[in-house]
Amino acid sequence: MPTKPPAADDDADHDVENDPLRAAGDGNRLDQKLGVAVARGVVHKQPRRPMHVAVVGATGVVGRETLSILSERRFPLASLRALASARSAGEELGLDDGKSITVEDLEQADFKGVDVVFFAASGGVSKTWAPRAAAAGAVCIDKSSSFRMDADVPLVVPEVNGQALKDFGRKRIIATPNCSTIQMVQCLAPLERAVGIERVVVCTYQAVSGAGRGGVDELEGQVRALFNFKAIEQSTFDQQIAFNALPRIPARDPIPADGTTGEERKMIEETRKILGRPDLRIGATCVRVPVFNGHSEAIHVELKKPLSADDARRLFAEEPNVLVVDDTKAGLYPTALDASGEDKTLVGRIRVDDSVPDGRGLAFWVVSDNLRTGAALNAVRIAEALCADWL
Ligand SMILES: NC(=O)c1ccc[n+]([C@@H]2O[C@H](COP(=O)([O-])OP(=O)(O)OC[C@H]3O[C@@H](n4cnc5c(N)ncnc54)[C@H](OP(=O)(O)O)[C@@H]3O)[C@@H](O)[C@H]2O)c1
Repeated sequence: MPTKPPAADDDADHDVENDPLRAAGDGNRLDQKLGVAVARGVVHKQPRRPMHVAVVGATGVVGRETLSILSERRFPLASLRALASARSAGEELGLDDGKSITVEDLEQADFKGVDVVFFAASGGVSKTWAPRAAAAGAVCIDKSSSFRMDADVPLVVPEVNGQALKDFGRKRIIATPNCSTIQMVQCLAPLERAVGIERVVVCTYQAVSGAGRGGVDELEGQVRALFNFKAIEQSTFDQQIAFNALPRIPARDPIPADGTTGEERKMIEETRKILGRPDLRIGATCVRVPVFNGHSEAIHVELKKPLSADDARRLFAEEPNVLVVDDTKAGLYPTALDASGEDKTLVGRIRVDDSVPDGRGLAFWVVSDNLRTGAALNAVRIAEALCADWL
């Protein structure tokens, strides 16, 4: 426990300047660390015409990031709608271009004439509303887990299995994977293509923004309370998150009898579906840590053939949305703060894992912005590919 209260003011307004999600991630950190300007906003596929777009869950952390990314990447918009619950209907959301948009109540929504709907609310909302929006003619890009394992719904990371998008018409729903899965498959895919993978063991260190606005507010509130000698409040997480690490995600779901949490199960099943490897052996431990934004993962892979660390670096470097940040001599490796606000997934600490015989073991550290790569950016990349090739 601290012996004296620091300067933190627990009555400070929660404005954008004070938002812990905005405290990092403006690109300066990574540029300074690497000594070069890192590419951002690179659009691989452009929609063929301006699209009518709606964002459900627009007031949440992923919904807001989706609105920002659409603007950053100049996604061609014929119209844009923001929807959320009745609680926030009528609220004005500021957009990056200085304009604002009025939040609509989802319960009153009609999706006729909308081309693409991003779903960034709860799984229950997606389950009810995505089929309705699809029936009205929209294509739904869903960030919840509701449809990910549905055989008629493509589960897509465009640069890994973009070809799966061809099946979008079966239900007019496309699922975007769990945030922890996306950054892992971005790195597993080139290894699978080059030498094949036998087994994966992953441990995650996941930021509180992965639990939504409530997670961010809870960590901020607990840190302020503890430094001001006040009682902490706890509702999003099942135990204190400040200065702690919680190996239970989602925090409020019962852990099934086999001991594997929901997040761990998602990483295993979604990775198999995306890589088209139902036989792939994967072990996962998912841990929530007191980091505001950016998930980290320690990944150990048993490969089918030997691979040197240098060859692995080369394979990762060829991936369009992966950046190698790995200089052992200079002590250079990537952190969650470096990844926050970036478009690329950062990989470092790449080394041969000698616990696997014959040079077939590889270990590495992967960090990514869970709100961007792990959710909103992957969804917008899906929309770009869909609207370029199919709509
Ligand atoms: N956070 C991440 O890193 C991450 C990563 C991958 C996927 N996801 C998924 O993305 C989705 C959104 O997560 P989040 O982290 O952005 O959560 P969040 O910050 O808690 O936001 C939830 C959003 O859903 C809206 N909502 C809740 N109940 C609703 C209802 N009955 N009708 C309409 N809108 C409703 C909320 O609107 P109000 O303001 O009106 O309450 C808010 O806009 C979830 O499915 C989550 O699993 C999140």
